[in-house]
Amino acid sequence: MEVVCIGAGYVGGPTMAVMAKMCPKDRFTVVDVDANRIDAWNSDRLPIYEPGLDEIVTMCRGRNLFFSADVPAAIRKADIVFVSVNTPTKLYGEGAFFASDMKYYEQTARDILAYADSDKIVVEKSTVPVRTAATMSRILCSGKQKHNFVVLSNPEFMAEGTAVQDLCAPDRVLIGGDDTPAAQSAVNRLAGLYSQWVPANRVLKASVWSSELSKLASNAMLAQRVSSVNSLAALCEASGADVTEVSKAVGMDGRIGPRFLEAGIGFGGSCFTKDILNLVYLCRHYGLENEAEYWHQVVKMNARQRERFVSRIVAAMFNTLSGKRVALFGLAFKSDTGDTRDSPAITIAEGLVREQAEVVIHDPKASSAGIPGVSFVQTPYEAAAWAHAVLLLTNWKEYVELDYARIFDSMQKPAFLFDGRNLLDHHKLHAMGFNVYPVGKPALEHF
Ligand code: UDX
Ligand code: ADP
Repeated sequence: MEVVCIGAGYVGGPTMAVMAKMCPKDRFTVVDVDANRIDAWNSDRLPIYEPGLDEIVTMCRGRNLFFSADVPAAIRKADIVFVSVNTPTKLYGEGAFFASDMKYYEQTARDILAYADSDKIVVEKSTVPVRTAATMSRILCSGKQKHNFVVLSNPEFMAEGTAVQDLCAPDRVLIGGDDTPAAQSAVNRLAGLYSQWVPANRVLKASVWSSELSKLASNAMLAQRVSSVNSLAALCEASGADVTEVSKAVGMDGRIGPRFLEAGIGFGGSCFTKDILNLVYLCRHYGLENEAEYWHQVVKMNARQRERFVSRIVAAMFNTLSGKRVALFGLAFKSDTGDTRDSPAITIAEGLVREQAEVVIHDPKASSAGIPGVSFVQTPYEAAAWAHAVLLLTNWKEYVELDYARIFDSMQKPAFLFDGRNLLDHHKLHAMGFNVYPVGKPALEHF
């Protein structure tokens, strides 16, 4: 089977690479309008960092995995076309700041219509608003096309940093298709691809709309857990309880489960905020104001968590950061990725700059996010040297393993440490001399 994926980003690249590994008899071509990105996929320095991905790309590239900027040629030969182009939050016009901007998506439908010279199965991979498939179908069937197009929904549930493992052993694969014989036959062909490595009981079939909504719903419910635990963290800080103890006790209830209950500086990444705002827009579209407001609170709580973190820093450091050097450990929205899209660390850095702090950032993979007035250094030790405060903002494992006694010695005194991920041994750091401020637990101070 000839499979093409339009969009060589965080979703398209890893998804096709793992499929190429798992389906050695099929051919996978990833295309993008951005020729530089394609060049990077064809080089030794891939455009995204994802553990385990380099090995798979090296194994499959040139065998049954190809990266190309020739979109028309790839569409022409494809049996299945995955669409994984970006669907950012719309920043203008109708639905601004809530709806997804579908201009890139719509363009792919027009490209497929223009270049197809045989029947195609078109598969939505990116998170899209409910009923996008209907829009795609209307465009694809709008001309006097000679060919048949079936649009399916097959949302991607992988998380960055664990993409390879999520793709190799998915909790489920969801395929949405209409009730027509042509659509059901397409669903079975796509399921056949996955059957090469995913057990049959993990492949779910649903209507297109249910499938599209399930992706929004999964992300909304995951994000809601994070906002819920962060709201409890605020209460813990005010009342003297310890959010880690609360999360542990709550998570041991089998009905709740322990995952996604880590308090911190809130969620980031390209999906959660965007998808919830999309859900809010959708609810409003159907006149469901209370439901819209319910989900909107999840995003508002997340924004508040970032603000609260900065306010706590200002209050702890004698109400002024002006001229003080503050070292940020981490900029990426989570560990094991260089992705900084909607990273809480960016909002926090901007808040610190507004307070006139001198902000110095280290991250093992993320080097820049266009934040004015900050500088980047190569090691966390360089960042911390002569700093008044260290902020741990991304849960990189290497930050747990640092020599904090050395860091303490190099800092100005009193030395402040704000652990935005609750990763470090706070009592040990306090004993070293740091004033330690975790999230959702009492501060450990020396005055
Ligand atoms: C998410 C979904 O998990 C994935 O299924 C979907 O396909 C894409 O969106 P991703 O955004 O890559 O994946 O990462 P995820 O692991 O979900 O983390 C999202 C954010 O929540 C990160 O900023 C993370 O640090 C934060 N988080 C997560 C918490 O703050 N606390 C937690 O307990 C868990
Ligand atoms: P995601 O995280 O959803 O994968 P990215 O922004 O990382 O999003 O990747 C989306 C990719 O889609 C980008 O590299 C962009 O250049 C590409 N793209 C957008 N529109 C088109 C199009 N019409 N044809 C081909 N590629 C496109």
